[in-house]
Amino acid sequence: MRALKGLLVVALVVCSCSKARPLQGDLTQPVSWEEDIAPLFAAQCSSCHSGAAAAAGYRTTSYLEALGPETAPVAAAGDANSLLLRTIDPARADAVHAPVSGAYDKARAWVVDGRLSFFRSEVHEGGILNPHDPEFHSNLVRARNWNFATCQSCHGTDLAGGKVGVSCQECHAFQISADGTTTCSSCHGSPQSPAPPRDLSGNLNSSTRGVGAHQAHLFGRTFISGTIACTACHQVPAAVDSPGHLDHPKPATVNFTGLAVAAGATPVWNGTSCSNTYCHGGGTNLANDTAFRLRTPVWTAGTSQAFCGSCHGIPPSTPAHAGIAFPDCARCHASTVSPNGTILVSGPPNARTSAHINGAIDVTP
Ligand code: HEC
Ligand code: HEC
Ligand code: HEC
Ligand code: HEC
Ligand code: HEC
Ligand code: HEC
Ligand code: HEC
Repeated sequence: MRALKGLLVVALVVCSCSKARPLQGDLTQPVSWEEDIAPLFAAQCSSCHSGAAAAAGYRTTSYLEALGPETAPVAAAGDANSLLLRTIDPARADAVHAPVSGAYDKARAWVVDGRLSFFRSEVHEGGILNPHDPEFHSNLVRARNWNFATCQSCHGTDLAGGKVGVSCQECHAFQISADGTTTCSSCHGSPQSPAPPRDLSGNLNSSTRGVGAHQAHLFGRTFISGTIACTACHQVPAAVDSPGHLDHPKPATVNFTGLAVAAGATPVWNGTSCSNTYCHGGGTNLANDTAFRLRTPVWTAGTSQAFCGSCHGIPPSTPAHAGIAFPDCARCHASTVSPNGTILVSGPPNARTSAHINGAIDVTP
């Protein structure tokens, strides 16, 4: 660490001229997570507040977890009335926490005077890892118009540690060019498309929520429709700093428009599955058919959920289909299916077109 600090001073001098916001640390922070609170909580709290069965679902085993859920933090920098402090305050603690209320004074110094400082650093402010702090590190990148060059100068061109040995990739899966400029695939997606995989955490597997059924909708191997545009499910940012993109925490926003809401469909994404999307049988076009078998696909459960007969019957239960049996469809739906019952899809892989799942019932004379 000693040798490293000398090196840092040099690095700081080099990059302090062109900065929108200073990168300077505060060695006067009285108490920090790394030096004081992590060991204290490990000794006093983690026996109950760790692992899958953590008391109150609250874990004290890492800084981000100890701050509480991003939407309902247990501690706010400077706030002596934070839930964390109320819980272990000797004057107010319940029977469970009275025995550990000796931790209160140090915890209070951390929350109030130390402003939830992560570390005592010569480079960064203590709020670097607290998403609710103005000095949260993504704000530093934002202030540089999402250019990573400054960060790369210390954390490495690949952001995997560089000369300071602290990797961003522990928590992220960035692919940033050597000069720090970002593309739409720097933080998520692949060279072909900004759609996952990879997701924001680096996951490639469709069983993870960030990856899910993206590929099936965009570049699936069994084509049953034209390409489903990102805009059917998301508001697509024109630029990295467009409103709605990076101005709120994860998860990503699912916002249905276009084909997803055709024929009056009112789709809902509940974090696990979709219901009432036009494509999977929502809306008035398929409303009278009761022969369908699966209209609420689970996002991470794979392509086997989009089989013939899932979204509508083969044929539907409606009067027009009385006495008809698969594959006798092309007789009346020749623009949609071939005589042997396969879906007709044309065009190049990334600009496919089809009369199937296009928003209209196609009946040929
Ligand atoms: C003996 C087990 C035990 C220990 C040790 C313990 N807690 Fe708890 N903690 C609980 C239980 C049980 C709850 C939920 C009910 C309650 O508040 O008593 C809880 C709740 C909390 C909550 C509220 C979480 C929320 O989101 O509602 C906070 C904050 C908390 N504890 C902090 C701490 C801290 C800090 C320590 C260490 C100084 C600590 N606890 C030590 C058992 C424990
Ligand atoms: C002058 C060198 C330097 C620059 C420039 C720099 N950092 Fe750091 N950063 C460090 C060092 C060193 C640490 C480790 C803590 C310490 O000793 O200060 C660190 C730690 C961090 C951490 C905490 C990670 C952890 O797990 O401990 C984050 C987050 C971070 N930096 C983000 C950034 C971002 C974002 C940028 C670009 C805006 C940036 N850093 C630019 C040197 C730098
Ligand atoms: C200990 C984990 C951790 C480390 C290490 C870390 N970050 Fe982050 N970073 C986060 C969290 C958490 C968020 C907020 C994600 C969210 O929106 O919920 C975030 C957000 C970001 C964002 C905003 C876009 C996004 O993907 O959410 C950028 C840019 C960023 N970090 C850059 C960096 C850089 C550069 C480094 C290394 C210098 C770094 N991070 C190291 C945890 C970390
Ligand atoms: C600095 C990292 C970063 C870059 C560069 C980036 N994104 Fe994102 N993107 C994210 C994060 C983080 C999320 C999740 C945001 C959220 O919580 O809504 C996201 C989410 C999305 C979503 C899902 C909808 C949403 O807003 O939640 C789309 C679509 C998207 N990005 C497209 C793009 C496009 C197009 C570009 C290029 C203009 C781009 N991204 C560049 C980090 C990035
Ligand atoms: C069929 C609907 C659908 C389409 C089409 C779609 N997405 Fe998504 N996307 C989702 C769902 C669902 C999630 C998971 C949201 C959540 O976690 O709550 C998601 C999440 C994301 C995320 C966040 C990943 C993470 O790590 O959390 C990004 C980035 C993203 N989508 C980008 C895109 C881009 C870019 C396109 C077009 C090229 C696209 N999506 C097309 C439904 C879709
Ligand atoms: C004799 C002509 C005829 C044949 C053969 C036929 N359909 Fe249809 N189909 C129609 C007509 C007409 C409609 C227009 C809406 C209606 O009246 O139900 C329709 C509508 C549909 C719809 C929209 C939902 C609905 O019920 O309105 C689906 C899905 C469909 N057909 C699937 C099939 C499948 C699958 C087959 C082959 C197993 C098939 N059809 C065979 C005449 C036919
Ligand atoms: C992901 C849901 C889904 C699956 C799976 C599905 N369909 Fe459809 N299908 C629809 C929707 C939605 C319509 C309503 C009309 C439209 O938008 O094209 C439709 C309409 C049809 C029609 C009526 C003609 C038309 O284009 O309107 C036929 C025929 C048909 N489907 C055949 C099939 C066959 C054969 C299979 C299996 C290979 C199949 N479908 C699988 C969603 C699905």
